[in-house]
Amino acid sequence: MATPGSSRASLPQDLRHEIQKLEEQFSTDAAKLKQITDRFISELDKGLSVEGGSIPMNPTWVMSFPDGYETGTFLALDMGGTNLRVCQITLTDQKSEFDIIQSKYRMPEELKTGESDELWEYIADCLQQFVDSHHADKSTIEKLPLGFTFSYPATQHYIDEGVLQRWTKGFDIAGVEGENVVPMLEAALERRNVPIKLVALINDTTGTLIASAYTDTSMKIGCIFGTGCNAAYMENAGSIPKLAHMNLPPDTPMAINCEWGAFDNEHAVLPMTPYDILIDKDSPRPGQQAFEKMIAGLYLGEIFRLVVLDLHNKEHMFLNQDMSAFKKPYSMDSSFLSAIEEDPFENLQETYDLFNKMGINSTNPELELIRRLAELIGTRAARLSACGVAAISKKKGYKTCHVGADGSVFNKYPHFKARGAQALREILDWPEKTNPRQEDPIEILAAEDGSGVGAALIAALTLQRVQEGNLAGILHLENFK
Ligand code: BGC
Repeated sequence: MATPGSSRASLPQDLRHEIQKLEEQFSTDAAKLKQITDRFISELDKGLSVEGGSIPMNPTWVMSFPDGYETGTFLALDMGGTNLRVCQITLTDQKSEFDIIQSKYRMPEELKTGESDELWEYIADCLQQFVDSHHADKSTIEKLPLGFTFSYPATQHYIDEGVLQRWTKGFDIAGVEGENVVPMLEAALERRNVPIKLVALINDTTGTLIASAYTDTSMKIGCIFGTGCNAAYMENAGSIPKLAHMNLPPDTPMAINCEWGAFDNEHAVLPMTPYDILIDKDSPRPGQQAFEKMIAGLYLGEIFRLVVLDLHNKEHMFLNQDMSAFKKPYSMDSSFLSAIEEDPFENLQETYDLFNKMGINSTNPELELIRRLAELIGTRAARLSACGVAAISKKKGYKTCHVGADGSVFNKYPHFKARGAQALREILDWPEKTNPRQEDPIEILAAEDGSGVGAALIAALTLQRVQEGNLAGILHLENFK
């Protein structure tokens, strides 16, 4: 069976040899994927144990799925890798319906590696602007409950705290790792007198899980395949040995933010190429996020850049061409690879133009190699992602379910969904479909808005459970009155 979106054409001998080498390096056959999935399952278990492992498996204190009848008005703040978004969400009386108003703010690149204070001041400014423009008379409003989507690994002893374990996605701001970020945000809001009370700090994956389950009760896993990659699912307290001291009834639901980007930090099973090793070595956090660095949008273009530069340096391609456009780390994002994979022309005219704009004149064989390389990088990312989904499904015994996925790679990268679905089929040994329109037993589908609606739902569910007397994992009870 042909792989979705694969291409092959005639090439001169020496580039063909290079392609063959790349194909070997980037290949992930079914046996390898099964081996990775098996290890993934045991690493998920290890993360839940008292000793812990590479995958953090963070309990989130999100303790139920929504039933569609949640109500109320909430603010949601999403501090993603690229944008900052502030929303006001009203969950209406109509089942699974909501109204949303939102503003997007650019996340200035320098903030990602700047000072902690600058980050919180900037975020508080955006929240203040939003509240000012939507609530003219601030003095009369009660404090608005906020769900803060902070999409980095955070330890949560409570739902209204988050101790940053480590920055990911290229962020590197001193003085935040090991600290609870909630008081940092609150202090900046207090300085401005913004009437907001934080009721839940959430991860984008947990938001995705809850927002997706709001409209589709078959949703069992929430995933992000974007600048970073990760997943969340609902566990039972009784299967989380590291929470045993809390004495929760064993069947209590507890959403787990896996932080699976850290899978195989010990480099035991992932088929790393020399380029992956280089990316890791030159990143702000070497040794961290091994899985993420092979899959997530932040890294796909960088892997491509490193391969092309290496082939040029070894005099296999782009001889005597000015490669200065390829010299700057992280100058190619995953949309560059998407454009190459989407080139509809047999002669790869659009790819030629893309390189031409960077001052590089490519020959046909070079274009063929570029296209194949983009396919290899994109296919490997999709197939490895499927191992994580398969691992959670196998661990939980889900034979059929829906998985809600969001993020730029999932939504925009060509063939990512089809390649992921094909890999799931190989890992889980599903029989061939008899009817092409038939659903797969486990389907990865586009999710609802996790960091907006999901954050609001989690705030609503938390207020609701506190009112019902479930005070587990609540630090500042006064904010829930
Ligand atoms: C972060 C996760 C997040 C994922 C997707 C990763 O780098 O560690 O917390 O869910 O990116 O945004």
